[in-house]
Amino acid sequence: MYLLERIGELLTMDVEGGKVLRSNRMSEPGIINNAAIVYDEQGIVAYGDNDTILSKYGDEIVDSIDAGGALVTPGLVDPHTHAVFVGTRELEFEMRIRGMSYMQIAQMGGGILNSTEKVRNATLDELVQSSQLQFNRMLSNGITTVEVKSGYGLNLESELKMLRAIKKLSSMVAQDIVPTFLGAHEIPQEFRPNGKDDYIQLIIDEMLPRVAAEKLAKFCDVFCEAGVFDVGDSRRILNAAKGKGLSLKLHADEIESTGGAELGVDLSARSVDHLGAISEIGISVLAASDTCAVLLPGTAFFLGLEKYAPARKLIDDGAIVALATDFNPGSSPTTNLPLVMSIACTQMKMTPLEAWTAVTINAAYSIEMEEKVGSITEGKQADFVVWDAENYRQIPYFYGESLVDIVIKKGKVVWRRVC
Ligand code: NIG
Ligand code: FE
Repeated sequence: MYLLERIGELLTMDVEGGKVLRSNRMSEPGIINNAAIVYDEQGIVAYGDNDTILSKYGDEIVDSIDAGGALVTPGLVDPHTHAVFVGTRELEFEMRIRGMSYMQIAQMGGGILNSTEKVRNATLDELVQSSQLQFNRMLSNGITTVEVKSGYGLNLESELKMLRAIKKLSSMVAQDIVPTFLGAHEIPQEFRPNGKDDYIQLIIDEMLPRVAAEKLAKFCDVFCEAGVFDVGDSRRILNAAKGKGLSLKLHADEIESTGGAELGVDLSARSVDHLGAISEIGISVLAASDTCAVLLPGTAFFLGLEKYAPARKLIDDGAIVALATDFNPGSSPTTNLPLVMSIACTQMKMTPLEAWTAVTINAAYSIEMEEKVGSITEGKQADFVVWDAENYRQIPYFYGESLVDIVIKKGKVVWRRVC
């Protein structure tokens, strides 16, 4: 067994046995000072007061790490990314600064279609290679579990290629990867201007059956937005996905309110994501449900939007809230989840503890991983981060800094800061 000792502040998130947290329970993270954890590759054996743990397990320890009085937390969970892509889109970044909107660029054939062209022209190995680096960056930001979507292929061959690349990466990188099929990310060029229904039929008749048969995805997601897939389109696609045994997610009410949140709840989706423009009705429906609101304030920040998702109201009304980077080459080119926590605190008025809950146990819930990760709970995976910080508040406080010292995944050190 291994020992992580002399932890100054241990943020366990082990409230209610490591289960999802709502409302003011999001502010009960389970803090222990002067703590230690005993673990092995199979999982967490015990945690508690440093001296008590040492006297109980001291004889069985084969290796130990001295945290030197630092903060230790569960490994971070990033539950919404588009981390597999080729090339970058900084020209669109400048076009937005000069006044164009994200949707205007998309309508001109830029945006998602820009990345689609590059992904279609890449081989599977090129895709894997260009993405691998990103997972190392995620580790440097403390992320030990990540959801990754397809959605830059937009035809059968290239969507399968993306999902196979994600599968290959799963066996190469340290993180647990949860794969999501997002064939309905955009209407491809060859189906414009009038072929949207034909494309939806292609998703339902050809893509979904293959994705399900080859077990390439756990979730199906749809970009439900004005000018892309409307609520009716999204319902058709998600119902078909449900029929194939996939769990559901939805990009909902990001820029305009279209009733995406209500649709997600109606279909028992595990999460509805974005919600910058969610309606009052959407908030109350979501708050009374078990569907998680995954908020992506880094995207609103990077697109220069004035409006952020109503995190305060969602939490106060009882919704399950998580945070994610939305890491992608267009609207959010960052893997820095701690920075997203800072933005959530300053722009959406989430407290530091709420932000922590949102990137650990609630994020794990939003991708159906809460039984395995997201809290320091006996029996869960030994996924920890040792921070160059004294307490949990310092992580969103030192915004944009890199404070990760050591990352442990399934009991093994997988990343260490080089001094
Ligand atoms: O979640 N909104 C749709 N999808 C992504 C953006 C993808 C892209 O621009 O490449 C998002 O923001
Ligand atoms: Fe997204």
